[in-house]
Amino acid sequence: MTVDAKQIEQATLSAIASIRAASSLGELRDAESAATGKQGVLIGFRRELGSLEPEQKRELGALIHTAQEQLTEAVSVCRAGLEAKARAQELEADRLDLSETIDKQVRPALSRGHRHLVSQTRDALEDVFCAMGFSVADGPEVETDWYNFEALNIPPAHPARGMWDTFYLDLGEAETVLLRTHTSPVQIHLMEEAVQANSLPIHAVMPGRCFRRDTPDARHLAAFHQIEGLVVDREITFADLAGTIETFTAAYFGPDIHSRLRPAYFPFTEPSAEYEITCTLCRGAGCRTCSMTGWIELGGCGMIDPAVFEAVGIDSKEWSGFAFGFGIDRCAQMRHQIPDMRALIENDLRFVEQF
Ligand code: FA5
Repeated sequence: MTVDAKQIEQATLSAIASIRAASSLGELRDAESAATGKQGVLIGFRRELGSLEPEQKRELGALIHTAQEQLTEAVSVCRAGLEAKARAQELEADRLDLSETIDKQVRPALSRGHRHLVSQTRDALEDVFCAMGFSVADGPEVETDWYNFEALNIPPAHPARGMWDTFYLDLGEAETVLLRTHTSPVQIHLMEEAVQANSLPIHAVMPGRCFRRDTPDARHLAAFHQIEGLVVDREITFADLAGTIETFTAAYFGPDIHSRLRPAYFPFTEPSAEYEITCTLCRGAGCRTCSMTGWIELGGCGMIDPAVFEAVGIDSKEWSGFAFGFGIDRCAQMRHQIPDMRALIENDLRFVEQF
């Protein structure tokens, strides 16, 4: 069978119909290749031209050429239409409805986070002390042996070092470097700065994180917080210290919580005392948290030892002062009657959200 004009016309019409029927770019590619591709109908016709007479060859060759143009045109019109349609579908899928409201039944409103109880407690303690005329300072968490111990009248091998089980850092430094075990080294920084700037007196509190190799239990964490207090002025007495502690206790815990100072030993204060308050969990009756004593130790305090003044270059004949250091986590625990301090670091949202 040899090719004729009618066959070319019908094949062209049928190929145009398949091109127009394509409903996706993929289908269009298939229709295009069936019409004009290497295995397409037009190539088949062209192959047959070789066996025709020159006149017929010219005539049908021209027809095939026109068919090729019609098919190419049909493909390009169809492709433009399908591409526009695909783009419109993409835009529709990406459309943002700015007036959309969240259906609370389907998706409950997200709850907003808030400051952790320990941070709230730190803020509240700072507020109480600022109202009493103290300023707020801070210092480094990584300290040298000098600031954490020696300047505080705790020389190497002093038995009092056993009071603080310390994390030492191996940084290859000549000096011994450690994680501070208490906020008392900030006292030394403040006094040194005040001597340098000739800006005594000092009335400051210094909140911050401390670290000890303590086994966590109901009243202890390995990383915890203290707030240090330091007053250096003229004619400061133990009565000023006791008055400050009493005023703080009433302001922070309320009038029905009592405090007491018990003689104690700290190498950097003389005389020294332990500061305790009524256990807020059992109101003094005795419970597991206070080890059945009815009292909870909140911190230590005392009059600054002349050896400390000497270490920082302050004349202890002209200046005197007191210092104290409380546990911030312990304050939070007592203020909110939390039986076990470990709840503060477990990040259980059912606990955290209560405050
Ligand atoms: C000191 O750290 C002294 N630097 C306090 C001080 C400052 C005395 C100034 C005199 C003058 P102590 O080791 O007792 O003292 O700790 C004070 C308070 O920190 C404790 O009463 C407790 O409230 C808190 N604390 C201590 N260790 C931990 C711990 N592992 N976890 C939670 N709180 C702690």
